[in-house]
Parts: sequence; C-alpha cells; structure tokens
Amino acid sequence: MKQKNYILVLGAGGNIGGKVAQELLNRGAQVGVMGRSRSRLAQFEGKAEILEGDFNDDAFLHQALQKASSVYLTVPDDAFADVSTTAQRLAHLLQNTAVTHIVNISNSIVKKSGKPTKLVALEEELNKNLPQHLLHLRCGNFFENLNWGLHTPYLPNLKLPYISSYEVACIAAQHLQQQGFTGKQVEAILGERDYSMAELAAAAGVTYQQLPYTPENSHFYKPFNDGDFEVEPRPENYKPGTDKRFSLEYFLKHDLQVSFV
Ligand SMILES: NC(=O)c1ccc[n+]([C@@H]2O[C@H](COP(=O)([O-])OP(=O)(O)OC[C@H]3O[C@@H](n4cnc5c(N)ncnc54)[C@H](OP(=O)(O)O)[C@@H]3O)[C@@H](O)[C@H]2O)c1
Repeated sequence: MKQKNYILVLGAGGNIGGKVAQELLNRGAQVGVMGRSRSRLAQFEGKAEILEGDFNDDAFLHQALQKASSVYLTVPDDAFADVSTTAQRLAHLLQNTAVTHIVNISNSIVKKSGKPTKLVALEEELNKNLPQHLLHLRCGNFFENLNWGLHTPYLPNLKLPYISSYEVACIAAQHLQQQGFTGKQVEAILGERDYSMAELAAAAGVTYQQLPYTPENSHFYKPFNDGDFEVEPRPENYKPGTDKRFSLEYFLKHDLQVSFV
C-alpha cells in the first residue's frame, strides 16, 4: 500500500495547508489534499489526489491516511474539546497505515494564564499516544492575522513574533519530504523579529488604535497585555528564511485583504 513520497496534507483548503500542498507539488512530491469542501481544493484538481471529507469522520480519515508516508497535521478547532481523546483517536486511525512521519502545526505561545496553550497541550498528547516520528512546528503569529483587523485590544507596544505563512509552509514541506526528524521534536518558526501592533500598523500606513476588550475577546487578549504568557524563545542560531515572500512588506503588498485607512 505504501507509496514512497506520497504526502497527505490535512486542511489543504486553508492558509498554511494550501501553501504546504503547493510547495510539495512544486518539489515534485505525490500529494493528497484533504478538506471538507472540494471547491476549496479546486486549485489542486488534476495535480493532487483530492480527498473530500471531515477530519471527524473516522472511516474517511482512516482511508485518507492509508497511502501516505508523511502527514501534515492540522487539528481543526472542533476537535480540541478534549485533546487527549483526539490524540488517542488519531493513534487508533494511524494503526496499520504506512505513515512514519508527521509534521504538526503548533504555536510559539506556549503558555497563557499559567496553562499550556491548546496546541501545546495537543503536542504532549500526540507525543504520548503516537508511535510515529513527530515534529511540532511552534509558529509565531501569521501575518494573515492582520486580515482579521489591524486595530485590536493588544497594547500598542506589546511585541510578539510574526511569521509569513509561506515560510512556515516551505519549512513544513521540506520536513515532510525529507523525513529527516526522529522521535518527538519541536522546532520554533518565529520569523525575522518580533513586532508590536503599533509597528505593524505603521508599516501598513496607519496609526494603531487600541480597542477596548469585549466580553467575547478579553480572555484572549488580557493575558497578553498583563504579561501572563510565555513565548518559545528565539534560538540563538535562528536564521529566518530569505525568500522575498517571507517578509512583512511582501504580505502587505500581496496578501493584505482589508484596507485600514
Ligand atoms: N493564526 C496564527 O497566528 C497561528 C499561529 C500559530 C499556529 N496557528 C495554527 O495553525 C493552524 C492552521 O492555521 P491556518 O491559518 O492554515 O487555518 P485555516 O486557514 O483556517 O485552515 C484550516 C483548514 O482546516 C480545514 N478544516 C477545518 N475543520 C475541518 C474538519 N472538521 N475536517 C476537515 N478539515 C477541516 C478547513 O478546510 P475546510 O473548511 O475546507 O474543510 C481549513 O482549510 C491552526 O491550528 C492554528 O491554530 C495559527
């Protein structure tokens, strides 16, 4: 059943998954792209195997995992209620498949309000339950978050790591194809440097306005503003990629979808 170099990309209709799949195709890999809607996978018609279905459907996911030797894993939000159950379910569905290597998307914000963030909690459960080689990519905030709105409750001068989704995708694709990692590993992908919202707004040509908390968002923003969070440290020898698509300037010019002026 195993087809060497067949790589399954979960969430391929999304921001990172779509770029991972495209990068793998550019490198000549055989790719399966998975998502709930064929129309959101249309860019891969005729280039990759399209697997239309839901992550939460056991039979579908088990079938989708059969041929792959590497898997790009992004666990959807609706599977986070109990990360332990999700990890056990994945371990069960991966049994008797050819999958040896998994690259899992994670978060550079490792703790908030004294607790591991959900993606880091998931890492631990995956490490406990899965026999495969696992690499967790602890990513900084994606530049794409700016498309949700540039004015937020973040303090104007609070700095956080920001990263291009192209850079994350290139790194993920390389690992998926090369299968050079063993055991359970973590890699920080933090971008060139940290940015404050005031800096990001200035780069987009506007003055940042800090918004008040709402009842819905205060649990997300307040721990940041109170300093009650932990970020994966930038390794001393950290070298950000140099491709021009990896820069903030490229994002602002090509992928910013909203006007802030
Ligand atoms: N934003 C950040 O700053 C940041 C930083 C670090 C890590 N992350 C993490 O990175 C991950 C990926 O982010 P992204 O920007 O690529 O997200 P995204 O654009 O929302 O993509 C997620 C994909 O998952 C698919 N999906 C959702 N529910 C599904 C289900 N039940 N079954 C099958 N597919 C499902 C969606 O496709 P369909 O709707 O077509 O099925 C979508 O294409 C997330 O886990 C996020 O938490 C984000």
